[in-house]
Amino acid sequence: MLAESIETSESNVAKKRASVVSKDTAGLRPGESVRILIPDSRVHKRLKELAKEIRRDFPTETLHLIGVLKGSVFFLTDLARELGGEVSFDFLSVSSYGHGTDSTGEVKLIKDLDVSIEGKTVIVVEDILDTGLTLKYLLRFFEEKKPKHLRVVVLLDKVERRIADVKADYTGFVIPNEFVVGYGLDFDERYRNLPDVCVLQFASKGKAKSA
Ligand code: IMP
Repeated sequence: MLAESIETSESNVAKKRASVVSKDTAGLRPGESVRILIPDSRVHKRLKELAKEIRRDFPTETLHLIGVLKGSVFFLTDLARELGGEVSFDFLSVSSYGHGTDSTGEVKLIKDLDVSIEGKTVIVVEDILDTGLTLKYLLRFFEEKKPKHLRVVVLLDKVERRIADVKADYTGFVIPNEFVVGYGLDFDERYRNLPDVCVLQFASKGKAKSA
């Protein structure tokens, strides 16, 4: 099934205005606001579909999920519970962003895998595909370790921001060029605990668009 497409036309914004996240829920700081882009119910519905697609491709295999910390944590744990069959996890951490909303383009390994992936059916679980530079680095890193299969699932894809020639095998939602937080995604380590995927906005600068 094709990735769902999310637009932010004015009509969509107006429809969602009623669902602006409350200040208490979001832990908002002065001058910052968030607007729901994808409600958690829609995220969970899509996760079930993604899990079915993945299991259809690998009905009997043990799936070794590799979460890219920290943004993919909720996505990985929720997806794992939908997959059924034998599933194992590992996590690694890379940094491609400093503080703020713009990518430095530089990818560094911060935490390596705990176990070998040689001969395993690996599903890389990423929160968001933006420039694609992180995924390009990761794919090269994983391919050298000789997994049996290597697939990528991303929750969100900002297709129009792509620099590196990479794409995911399974995509939750294609979203516009907006800086998003919630459901694991952060801005300077904040907002990960929002249940919905939200657009972060600043009063002074308008939307926190990626450069
Ligand atoms: P890429 O290398 O530019 O594709 O960036 C991938 C990483 O950048 C993601 O795993 C996120 O950690 C971060 N990122 C990119 N866009 C956003 C966003 O809109 N919100 C939060 N993090 C983002």
